[in-house]
Amino acid sequence: MRTGAVLNGRRILLIVAGGIAAYKTLELTRRLVERGASVRCVLTEAGAQFVTPLSLSALSGDKVYRDLFSLTDEHEMGHIRLSREADLVVVAPATADILARMAGGLANDLATTLLLATDKDVLAAPAMNVRMWEHAATRANLATLRERGIRFVGPDEGEMACGEYGPGRMAEPAAILDAVEACFAARGRLRGRAALVTSGPTREALDPVRYIGNRSSGKQGHAIAAALARAGARTRLVTGPTHEPDPAGVEVVRVESAREMLEACRAALPSDVGVFAAAVSDWRPAREAGRKMKKSDGAPAAVELVENPDVLASVAAAGNARPALVVGFAAETDDLLANARRKLEAKGCDWVLANDVAPRSGTFGGEENTVRLVSADGVEDWPTLAKDAVAERLASRIADWFDARAEAAE
Ligand code: CTP
Repeated sequence: MRTGAVLNGRRILLIVAGGIAAYKTLELTRRLVERGASVRCVLTEAGAQFVTPLSLSALSGDKVYRDLFSLTDEHEMGHIRLSREADLVVVAPATADILARMAGGLANDLATTLLLATDKDVLAAPAMNVRMWEHAATRANLATLRERGIRFVGPDEGEMACGEYGPGRMAEPAAILDAVEACFAARGRLRGRAALVTSGPTREALDPVRYIGNRSSGKQGHAIAAALARAGARTRLVTGPTHEPDPAGVEVVRVESAREMLEACRAALPSDVGVFAAAVSDWRPAREAGRKMKKSDGAPAAVELVENPDVLASVAAAGNARPALVVGFAAETDDLLANARRKLEAKGCDWVLANDVAPRSGTFGGEENTVRLVSADGVEDWPTLAKDAVAERLASRIADWFDARAEAAE
């Protein structure tokens, strides 16, 4: 099963200004939510002439923010927090009026105050009459806003609500959705790269209700997928069963067994980088009982086990489809470095992140991890860090590696 994508878990602040195209933002909101984004709407006074707060709130599943001076809004959610808690600000429809106020740096309502205060990317979908679109004032405002890094989608050319023909129609919701996705994909040092990450434990079935598993929480693998996506990589996470939420912007493929994990990883190739953080069960029961084993059958004298495929080693040996950078983990309770070096060699990886999983280390299920990066170049000791920080550091080391490779090729 595959869920999520680049919009999964992203927080969009949608500013709806006053134009006839405002009705299309209802469809846009629905589609953003459908793709896993959370949408918070700000409606301008003019916008409220075209769509009702009730429709927007029903579709976004959140309250609609309208008033800069509302005591309750400002109390519950000040304008600074509204923009801080968003990953992207979308203005749709971006009318000639709101574009002019943005260009001029006005802050005379909640929408423009937010736009002036935000440090987030802003995507605008202009919509206006063709003469307004072509007016020198609008041209100048657009040039100013472009220069400041505001992104635009549309407008389209066509029949307008006012009966004229030309450019000025707001882009269709599907095109705005694509532009929103592109905003996320275009960020970061790993943009344009594809990443594959494994995470969590695997479950190897004994019968339809019982399995052999392990204590992996998936925290580290999920954090790595999230960090790679934040760095701009198109990231696919193949995960065994965990309680971790889907990381934002990541395509998640859920599997149970080692064999399913291998199949899902093969399907994810080619990929530029592979990080194998899953705690894959080394063995599985030789036979899976077709029906639940009953107590009355008596305790099985022994469970015969057979070896599972090694997901990491198989991907590292995938010939042309092998990721340029293959990163494995070595979870060890003893002889950390010697075992990590052996795994580097035996599994054909470029880096091994060696971590101590002895019960006293608290790594399994814990929040922190002490990692050493082992490669042919030597050993890098990392300090004990929160798993999110380990992930962030790894993503940045991976970006360094690709930068160095690109430089060497020049
Ligand atoms: N791994 C894998 N598939 C397996 C076993 C391990 O992809 N069937 C990957 C893990 O995701 C990790 C690395 O191999 O990146 C090392 O895992 P680890 O459990 O430490 O090593 P094992 O191969 O199980 O070796 P050992 O039992 O000797 O510790």
